[in-house]
Amino acid sequence: MSHLLDYISANAQRFESELMELLAIPSISTEPENAPDVRRCAEWLSSHLTAIGLQNVKVFPTKGHPIVYADWLDAGADKPTILFYGHYDVQPVDPLNLWTNPPFEPTVRDGKVFARGATDDKGQVFLHVKCLEAWLATHGSLPVNVKLLIEGEEEIGSANLEGFLEEHKQMLACDSVVISDTSMYRKGQPSIVYGLRGLCYMEVHVQGPNRDLHSGSFGGAVQNPLNALAHIIAKLKDENGRIQIPGFYDDVIELTAEDHTQFAALDFDEGDYKRAVDVDDLGGEPDYTPLERLGARPTLDVNGFIGGFTGTGAKTVLPAKASAKISMRLVANQNTDDIAAKFTDYVQKVAPKGVRVTVENHHGANPVLVPRDGFAVQAAVRALERAFGKTPVFTREGGSIPITLLFSTILNAPTVLMGFGLNSENAHSPDEHFDLENFHLGIKASALFYEELG
Ligand code: BES
Ligand code: ZN
Repeated sequence: MSHLLDYISANAQRFESELMELLAIPSISTEPENAPDVRRCAEWLSSHLTAIGLQNVKVFPTKGHPIVYADWLDAGADKPTILFYGHYDVQPVDPLNLWTNPPFEPTVRDGKVFARGATDDKGQVFLHVKCLEAWLATHGSLPVNVKLLIEGEEEIGSANLEGFLEEHKQMLACDSVVISDTSMYRKGQPSIVYGLRGLCYMEVHVQGPNRDLHSGSFGGAVQNPLNALAHIIAKLKDENGRIQIPGFYDDVIELTAEDHTQFAALDFDEGDYKRAVDVDDLGGEPDYTPLERLGARPTLDVNGFIGGFTGTGAKTVLPAKASAKISMRLVANQNTDDIAAKFTDYVQKVAPKGVRVTVENHHGANPVLVPRDGFAVQAAVRALERAFGKTPVFTREGGSIPITLLFSTILNAPTVLMGFGLNSENAHSPDEHFDLENFHLGIKASALFYEELG
């Protein structure tokens, strides 16, 4: 064991340099012009996995971006099989001018590496790769059977992964899944996430007249698509943040008294939270605490508005069309397809006359609650405790990992969400970074996790 941990500390510097190489590849899954970079990233990973001694390393093409698979199954049939899942794709970098260093020129400052994908999720994927390397280099073997599944479409909804799971059920069969793509409650406090929200991402298109019109000559007689869109959006929520779509809350599992107690047990300072994002007050449903609203309540947010004159100064114009990108975060047991249908019906119903409204469904994810018991969760608790010197807490997160529910329905395996990111690390924002101390502690914790499992 000390041999294993010695190897991890002796190679820390090299691990960081290799992570920088991975972070330099602009694997933005949503941008068509980055498709070759996404492929290059899959290939970089696969050669790395081969080099550290994993077997059956393969890059599977899909209709979208490739899936990387590797395994090491010589631990024996009496040992459990663990499937590690992560993603190597990243979010777009805009607004680019707000980055301190270019997003694909990884830079270390204050013990953190700054680059797009650093915390979400390349740094967290790579720490598992490095702990496997440490095991293979020091023992020539792993304490359990391990499979790795690293995809390139998580940030765009994992559309091709469900089919892949169905098609490769045998290859992916396992006793438990482990994912490191979530956050710790705070630095120094290891955390196991047991709830993730789902997502339903829609776009509402409003078409008015056949061309932009003079707002004096036509305004008042012709319906304005931007006003119509504002009207539709205003109908979606009431002043207390309650979503007005009929049936929206039908499948929401209400928090139990025990859930309220668990949320209340996490120390949360509203003042610190407000200061961190620089707002005077928080929003949302008044009957729930902020942590409950983030982890256990659904939301509806406009992500973007498109339409009309946005240049400098004033232009009197009645725009021909407008659209809005709207996301809903869902909680167990809401279903993303069901919510998309209810949203579409309601938007059509409240749309004013004089415009044509179409609703587009971009992508979605179902919410999950994963079990808090089971052999792998227990192993994670012990490993995190040993690595961080602190007992982990159980939390629920507001983000989504689309495939999580399907690991239980298709592979019949429970998932452990053992993440090493921090919510303050600017995932999806400019200056995304990953704390290098957590990177190294994560390597240690994962190495001990596999030991505990064995
Ligand atoms: N790593 C995140 C999910 C996450 C964020 C978990 C914060 C816990 C805390 C993941 O990569 C992500 O961003 N997912 C997308 C999925 C969507 C595009 C379908 C998300 O949540 O927006
Ligand atoms: Zn992620």
